[in-house]
Amino acid sequence: MAAKGYAWWQSGVIYQVYPRSFQDSNADGVGDLLGILARLDHLVALGVDAVWISPITASPMADFGYDVADYTGIDPAFGTLANFDRLVAAAHVRGLRVILDYVPNHSSDRHPWFLESRASRSSARRDWYIWRDPAPDGGPPNNWLSEFGGPAWTLDQATGQYWYHAYLPEQPDLNWRNPQVQDAMLEVLRFWLDRGVDGFRVDAIHHLFEDEGLRDNPPNPDWRPGLSPARRVIRAYTMDQAEVHEAIAAMRRVADAYPGERVLIGEAYLPIDRLMAYYGAGLTGFHLPFNFHLLSTPWDARAIAALVERYEAALPQGAWPNWVLGNHDRSRLASRLGPAQARVAAMLLLTLRGTPTIYQGEEIGMTDVPIPPDRVQDPWERRVPGLGVGRDPVRTPMQWDAGAGAGFTGAVEPWLPLPRDWRSVNVAAQEGDASSVLTLYRALLRLRRAEPALSVGAYASVAVDAPDVLAYERRDEATGRRLRIALNLGDGQRVLPGFALGARILLSSYLDDRSSSIQGAIALRPAEGVVVELPVKA
Ligand code: GLC
Repeated sequence: MAAKGYAWWQSGVIYQVYPRSFQDSNADGVGDLLGILARLDHLVALGVDAVWISPITASPMADFGYDVADYTGIDPAFGTLANFDRLVAAAHVRGLRVILDYVPNHSSDRHPWFLESRASRSSARRDWYIWRDPAPDGGPPNNWLSEFGGPAWTLDQATGQYWYHAYLPEQPDLNWRNPQVQDAMLEVLRFWLDRGVDGFRVDAIHHLFEDEGLRDNPPNPDWRPGLSPARRVIRAYTMDQAEVHEAIAAMRRVADAYPGERVLIGEAYLPIDRLMAYYGAGLTGFHLPFNFHLLSTPWDARAIAALVERYEAALPQGAWPNWVLGNHDRSRLASRLGPAQARVAAMLLLTLRGTPTIYQGEEIGMTDVPIPPDRVQDPWERRVPGLGVGRDPVRTPMQWDAGAGAGFTGAVEPWLPLPRDWRSVNVAAQEGDASSVLTLYRALLRLRRAEPALSVGAYASVAVDAPDVLAYERRDEATGRRLRIALNLGDGQRVLPGFALGARILLSSYLDDRSSSIQGAIALRPAEGVVVELPVKA
């Protein structure tokens, strides 16, 4: 439901589905489209507005869908185009928007475009990818590194040139300087927009262009053994190049030509000042360049307050903020912060100003699942073992119930293992539990929907004289209604004199009844967060 005067993607909440692990409908151990369809009511009950589905297009699965072999075909593992149309229709009937993942930086090495490009130096599609001659010693053209380990160049023996890949060799980078590539890739957007999708999450956008002069990246003085080998260099010439903004604006023009507020969300891991450029000059870029900064900021009240201030202050005029606390690439909240603070984090995410994205499974407090070496799937972990870069632990199946296969699959073995605690940590168990993480997420989402102060209101920090406490106010400009949020990021009790005299607690992360109004100082229990309603000024 959109608050008055705001687009759905401003007042709404996005939920990310990792389709291999959401729901399996055909007992092959891998989630699929009909599975997602069967679970839409979970999203309705949760109270989110949109579902972003990680790639479902045809793929050899070298990077589990982020290597696309057909941009307009559904991978058989996930179902058919007819299944997809049914899913979109069923979502729309329920008032849910559907956002697809769009992977413009690279295709699969099995994509017909790449096969043709690779076939010969004179192929009509040679220039659709990035081919360069070897260095004089026969090695790669320069020192650029793959995000997933090793050089970013792979030699094609037959034609004697190297192709560039920011990620796996199986993910050759498309050459966006070629207008034909641009046209073909914009046509992909139209294909899905015509089918009724409500927007795209645009993958790895900061990698779209590289320096034409192929200058070497400078060494990174901060790299130490144990860090990802890709971080040995600073990506000065392989990331965040100026031309990207025109390409994004072209995507935006396509989306804007469709009725109904289609949204473009960009995945760019960049410092705040650089990130802001992805809104585009005059807001002609992404509606929402993903803000990942909470993922890398220490869980410390002062650090987070400073981050929010910095981010809010940097936003261009009219730009809409957003916040992310988890996704299919990053460690889960309950593992990063512990189960108690994961609840505080939920309250933070859902009460800050800006569109929140929730990653599947966070709403039941799932943890990273240890993966035995013989079950590793993630190519990153396989290429760079032992550093903890693997993403399988956060991609394990959704835990729906205590039945066999956690209600996720009828197969004997899901594609990734279930954790030991799935019989107790699951949706069904938490549904009937008045103090569960799921109940907290539902309560927060209900409150956010009911209170324009939370969904679209102004943000102001509130200074409190208590360590570990993060406090801020949200104000509905239309009515003047003010809510205050106080989050105890520590594990001791914290007393907040004068924080909200005469106010009423609307919600505590403990989910017990604290509804009587606050007479003296408010005392926060360890890892407690509260939303309070300030009395209306006379
Ligand atoms: C993005 C995706 C990640 C993928 C990479 C390459 O960062 O989130 O999962 O591996 O792009 O497409």
